[in-house]
Amino acid sequence: MTQHTQALAATPAPLSPEQLQTLDQLLAGSSEAALWWIAGYAAGQAAQRSPTAAPRPATAAVKRLTVAYGSQTGNAKAAASRLAQQAEAQGLAVRLINLADYSLAELGRERFLAIAISTQGDGDPPDDARIFLKQLASARAPKLSELRYTVLALGDSSYARFCEIGRLLDQRLAELGGQALSPRADADLDIEQVAAPWRTSTVEAAVEGIGKSAATVTLLRPALAPVSHAASSAQAVVLANQRLTARDSELDVRHVELGFVGAPLHYQPGDSLQVRVGNPSPLIDEFLTRAGLDGEAQVEHGGHRHSLREWLSTQRELTRISLPLLNAIFAAHPEHPLRERGAALLDSHQVVDLLAAGRIQWDAARWVTELVPLKPRAYSIASSQASVGDEVHLTVALRRDEVAGIERLGLASGHLAALAEGAEIEVSVEANPRFRLPADCSRDLIMIGPGTGVAPFRAFLQQRVAEGASGRHWLFFGHRHLRREFLYQTEWLSALKRGQLQRLDVAFSRDQPERRYVQQVLAEQARELLSWIDGGAHLYVCGDAKRMARDVEQTLIEAIARIRGIDAEAASDELDALASAGRYQRDVY
Ligand SMILES: Cc1cc2nc3c(=O)[nH]c(=O)nc-3n(C[C@H](O)[C@H](O)[C@H](O)COP(=O)(O)OP(=O)(O)OC[C@H]3O[C@@H](n4cnc5c(N)ncnc54)[C@H](O)[C@@H]3O)c2cc1C
Ligand SMILES: Cc1cc2nc3c(=O)[nH]c(=O)nc-3n(C[C@H](O)[C@H](O)[C@H](O)COP(=O)(O)O)c2cc1C
Repeated sequence: MTQHTQALAATPAPLSPEQLQTLDQLLAGSSEAALWWIAGYAAGQAAQRSPTAAPRPATAAVKRLTVAYGSQTGNAKAAASRLAQQAEAQGLAVRLINLADYSLAELGRERFLAIAISTQGDGDPPDDARIFLKQLASARAPKLSELRYTVLALGDSSYARFCEIGRLLDQRLAELGGQALSPRADADLDIEQVAAPWRTSTVEAAVEGIGKSAATVTLLRPALAPVSHAASSAQAVVLANQRLTARDSELDVRHVELGFVGAPLHYQPGDSLQVRVGNPSPLIDEFLTRAGLDGEAQVEHGGHRHSLREWLSTQRELTRISLPLLNAIFAAHPEHPLRERGAALLDSHQVVDLLAAGRIQWDAARWVTELVPLKPRAYSIASSQASVGDEVHLTVALRRDEVAGIERLGLASGHLAALAEGAEIEVSVEANPRFRLPADCSRDLIMIGPGTGVAPFRAFLQQRVAEGASGRHWLFFGHRHLRREFLYQTEWLSALKRGQLQRLDVAFSRDQPERRYVQQVLAEQARELLSWIDGGAHLYVCGDAKRMARDVEQTLIEAIARIRGIDAEAASDELDALASAGRYQRDVY
């Protein structure tokens, strides 16, 4: 027996010994290209003879690398695409696929799989991977003892559930019997730093396991389009900055109107605006004093040389801390008084609070290495260009934390809240194709947006009114108090009066002894809500990811189950089907 038939014999072959011998003779005299052709030919024959006649690239699956991705804003998609290109350049047969299009049946046949996936919300999957992950977690998931896989987990270490989804996916694939093709890699916002070595080790392992075959590339996968999602930035000028919450509210939420200096940027309802802000001088001064460092010290890092002050001003986060930063501080200073509080510090403490609580004896270069790169902040756009032309409106909640009696402001929200008319800021548009109005203007909209989650629905309504949409609009809004925190109250009430908004349901959590939230109102209105959905309505949720979006989803599942008389799993499947059809969309943060 040759190597070929030995390999075949390792898996029980549905062939007689004579057939195996004939096959062996044929393969022994064939070139590598001919072998690949035979594999493809046999797969084609098998597909034609299958009762469903569906293409089942079972043979090819053994010999290709499938690169799958789950991605919200394109980073994991870009990372997957780069891996696919690198693998293809090494002569591997590659297939690139979104997890939204990837089934458990295919996974069951897969032999070499690389997945790039981000973590969203509060440790949630990206929308396009939700159904796949749910199925993978179920008892229906196949055994994967033949699979060799690897995961690139994308995340942001300033979130407590850093790379959680990639980690859980890796765990589940291993549980089902998958073996590592290359080790999982957890990438922070500087994705390439981790993704580049992951690509190299993955491609090396795949070449070793699969062998090269340029001949099959086009058979298995359409051409890879390079992924680019770079946004162009612009200067914007503040036209108005009004407080939306009452003076006596402890919450400060702003309506900010911006115009463009120079050529305007274009956006669609559902998009967000990225705001780039540098750390304020008083905060940098406080950091330098508490750290005992000179701002003029020159620091070289990653091929760039700046003064420490410059690094802190425009390149490094001071108001958001990360898990690796905490780990490094507590490893260097095990006696630090905040050590016991661990990841809980991420939601409230800034770098200066860590310095104020205990000594951290690092030099300037160490701080530049350990602090995370400064990133822009996103704000849902609260206007439609069909209504406001070249302006863009935002709804900004000022982030305020009190730590050891000192009030700390969020970087971007603090900056925006304090901006006077005429001030300028740097902005760019982040397109969000996953949060879009239906193309069909006659569809009804159900919009669930408590707190600043209401912002995109102001844009939606402006757009639909401008288009003369015939579909109905139903808004669910919630906040603490009706009198103090009913954002855009007069606009919603006048839209109701004009017949542009058909229904408005509100929950003000602190206006009665028992706390009351939008999900309770949803539950009360479930029958009517379902009748809108049955009539083709699109359902949108925007705002808090930690509690609101989860509770709302749970309420929707319970309501569907109760009213349809089905179990929770079937109700959850119905919601998934709505999401797949683009009729249940979320933008939660
Ligand atoms: C797609 C998208 C749309 C958004 N839309 C809006 C919007 O319309 N209006 C709006 O006000 N905000 C919105 N946000 C949130 C916004 O981007 C900022 O995160 C928020 O304003 C805080 O940023 P900051 O710079 O003021 O605070 P930071 O300087 O980033 O943080 C200050 C402190 O608050 C903590 N912190 C900040 N955010 C969180 C959080 N989510 N959970 C726990 N702790 C946190 C930090 O850890 C730190 O201790 C959106 C976010 C996304 C991703
Ligand atoms: C609203 C929001 C929530 C996020 N939540 C998490 C999180 O819980 N854990 C994490 O590691 N990263 C989190 N991230 C960071 C993303 O995973 C990271 O930006 C990633 O590069 C996005 O990749 P994608 O574009 O493929 O979705 C979050 C990002 C956003 C915008």
